[in-house]
Amino acid sequence: MVVQIASGQEFWYGCGCMRPKDPFIGRELLGGQFRVLEKIGTGGMGSVYKAEQPAMNRMVAIKILHPKLAGRKDLTSRFRREARAMSQLTHPNTVKVFMYGELEDDGSLYIVMEMLEGRNLNQTVRKEGPLPVERAIPVLIQCCGALQEAHDLGIVHRDLKPENIFLSKQGGMADYPKVLDFGLAKVTERQMQPGSVILTQEGMVFGTPEFMSPEQAQGKTLDARSDIYSLAVILYEVLTGKLPFSARTPMEYIQKHVTDPIIPLSERVPDRKFDRGLDAVLAKALEKQPDNRYQTAGEFGEALRQYGGAAAKALPPVGPRAPSLSGELKAASQRSPAQGTGPSAKLLVLVAAACLFAGVLIAVLVMKVLAH
Ligand SMILES: Nc1ncnc2c1ncn2[C@@H]1O[C@H](COP(=O)(O)OP(=O)(O)OP(=O)(O)O)[C@@H](O)[C@H]1O
Ligand SMILES: [Mg+2]
Repeated sequence: MVVQIASGQEFWYGCGCMRPKDPFIGRELLGGQFRVLEKIGTGGMGSVYKAEQPAMNRMVAIKILHPKLAGRKDLTSRFRREARAMSQLTHPNTVKVFMYGELEDDGSLYIVMEMLEGRNLNQTVRKEGPLPVERAIPVLIQCCGALQEAHDLGIVHRDLKPENIFLSKQGGMADYPKVLDFGLAKVTERQMQPGSVILTQEGMVFGTPEFMSPEQAQGKTLDARSDIYSLAVILYEVLTGKLPFSARTPMEYIQKHVTDPIIPLSERVPDRKFDRGLDAVLAKALEKQPDNRYQTAGEFGEALRQYGGAAAKALPPVGPRAPSLSGELKAASQRSPAQGTGPSAKLLVLVAAACLFAGVLIAVLVMKVLAH
């Protein structure tokens, strides 16, 4: 219920509390292209709304970053850079970004995405409990595919957590995973000194302590292998309902990522049996040193495949992207003539070598005959 008070501000009343009505609900955005219907949820960087786009006859999800992030030139340009990169991702397991920019009136940064129906992984595990391996592993393998494409383009996610993996219902299929928020954590990230406290200028923790890689916890430079670590923590949690270390506070989690060995799955949930091989795969993905982990998301996905039942076996390979035709043509045109070792060039070299050998043989024979 909405009530209006003397100041003119509207309040929501209905949850047993009084709270101001969200200023975006009911608003038209971007010259009337979108009408905001309801709030889906709020995270560390802003809120996500369901909106309709009448011209396209579709629903979209609009993420609007905190108004306090608006108007900051440094953040705006970083946001544009990240959002541009994000909108180049085409993997079917990555959420589609339709447009992004700043709202006309207050300069709030926004991203318009495809609207997903379903639940994120955190909501799923809270509602249904830990998932069996046959359900969790195919989801994770598909996320590896989404990550591999992003990593190939130089984009590191930096904030992988169950809330950023959505199990959407698509074309009648349940559990179709979509990875959200690629690279967005970078927008509020401050240049950190190694070992410094992990707070942004806005006072928000970036990365999420429970899913943070050791190098992220120490403020080191991140690469694709940090995402592989976070994805492995997600898998651990989805399978057991628990994290790989026991800790009570975020700071304790951060510290244990850096120092403590993980607890094997079967010790964490003694009443369930897990394949020891799966423990080994998780242990490798959760190595403290990035050099000791799987080096690509594709490798991690393939290592998981044999533990995920028939559904996992039926998924396409999670390798690096097939090189595009234009990429191949470019590579071919860049090849120097000396490197031209196609099949016909190789054949010519073989024939020449054979002729030379035959010539030498004949010369030796002739010399022997003449000597007699
Ligand atoms: N395109 C979308 N379609 C449907 N729901 C979405 C979409 N994008 C995000 N959500 C949901 O909206 C909620 C809020 O998302 P948001 O990204 O703001 O918060 P978060 O993921 O919890 O934290 P963070 O800000 O660190 O990403 C989450 O439950 C998320 O799963
Ligand atoms: Mg999110």
